[in-house]
Amino acid sequence: MSRLECIECGDSYPSDEARYTCSCGGLLEVIYESIPSRSDFSGPLGVWRYSSVLPIDTAGSVTLDEGGTPLYDADKLSREIGVDVHVKHEGMNPTGSFKDRGMTVGVSKAIELGIDRVACASTGNTSAALAAYGAAADIPAVVLLPQDKVALGKVAQALMHGATLVELDGNFDECLSIVRELAEDGFFYVLNSVNPYRLEGQKTIAFEVLEQLNWEVPDVTVLPVGNAGNISAIYKGYRELRRAGIIDEIPRMVGVQAEGASPLASAVKKGGPLEPFDDPETKATAIRIGDPVNAPKARIAIEETDGEALYVSDDDLLETQLQLARLEGIGVEPASATSVAGVKRLKEEGWLDGDEKVVCVATGHLLKDPDAALAATDDPLQADASTEAVREVLK
Ligand code: F0G
Repeated sequence: MSRLECIECGDSYPSDEARYTCSCGGLLEVIYESIPSRSDFSGPLGVWRYSSVLPIDTAGSVTLDEGGTPLYDADKLSREIGVDVHVKHEGMNPTGSFKDRGMTVGVSKAIELGIDRVACASTGNTSAALAAYGAAADIPAVVLLPQDKVALGKVAQALMHGATLVELDGNFDECLSIVRELAEDGFFYVLNSVNPYRLEGQKTIAFEVLEQLNWEVPDVTVLPVGNAGNISAIYKGYRELRRAGIIDEIPRMVGVQAEGASPLASAVKKGGPLEPFDDPETKATAIRIGDPVNAPKARIAIEETDGEALYVSDDDLLETQLQLARLEGIGVEPASATSVAGVKRLKEEGWLDGDEKVVCVATGHLLKDPDAALAATDDPLQADASTEAVREVLK
């Protein structure tokens, strides 16, 4: 049994209505009557192993086998940075990003609610996931994208899975506000991270990390921040396990933004209200967001865990993307590399001592943004189609 509760005023709502925010305007989160025990978790590693703490009556009614992603010990990288870094590669999900965890739950909820059209605004990955899960569930999907600012692989996915794409001459924040207005008119059901059910799927990242570390709680969890849903979701996952007595403490939560799109990092640093960036800009297009809707939840996660929010430059995140690819064989998209780039900065600044165990969430796959990969690397060598010519160029 679950209900929706406002994080600002505490009002609650039944979980059988399509509602995103409280009547006071506050964000909602899903609250469960009962708390789980470890023996409730059953089945292979993945989102639906945790169905006892997911707000869906028909577990996994739309699934593409999401979750169960690898947690890599990044030994060489750890030696270079001087911190014990583990990388949770969420790019290994069905559509290549962590959004699939949210969509399997969010679209299952849409079916329960009898919804006939789903929608999102997106910097790319959400649209790819929504399109795929919409196709699997046979529900039409609409996506609003900022024109020319979405990586090629993501647009290709959304088109291929049959979503209706509308490109707007505006940024992600504008796309999202239009989607939310149309949803208020009942035009469709929104599956952005303002939807509390979607975040429930994403909290399973915390559960999996702990299982993969044999329930040893890492000291720090670091992840990229755009709309600030994922950091809120993962913190909620840790909190529920602590409430259930499965773990005693919660890792410090660290959110990393790109410098040109870092309103949360600025607000946390100043200790004041969030001031949106009107013209966010970064090569990490997935997190090119100026007004993160889940900032209030993210700030709670950071404050309650004595965590941190910071930014890294585009040069640093792109260099780190290449380093992950070449040193560890871990292929991620630019936004995902901000987590490791953030760890480097925190070590340099002394926020990390070097004796911590750190889990970095790598949120999306390298193939999402082929243009970024080609821009970061040299052109292939060229040779005539003869053995001698190949021997020559490889000398
Ligand atoms: N990393 C990647 C690869 C993303 O695609 C996103 C968000 C984030 C990190 C940030 O996560 O928003 O929960 O803080 N992408 C959204 C999208 C906005 O539309 O695909 P967040």
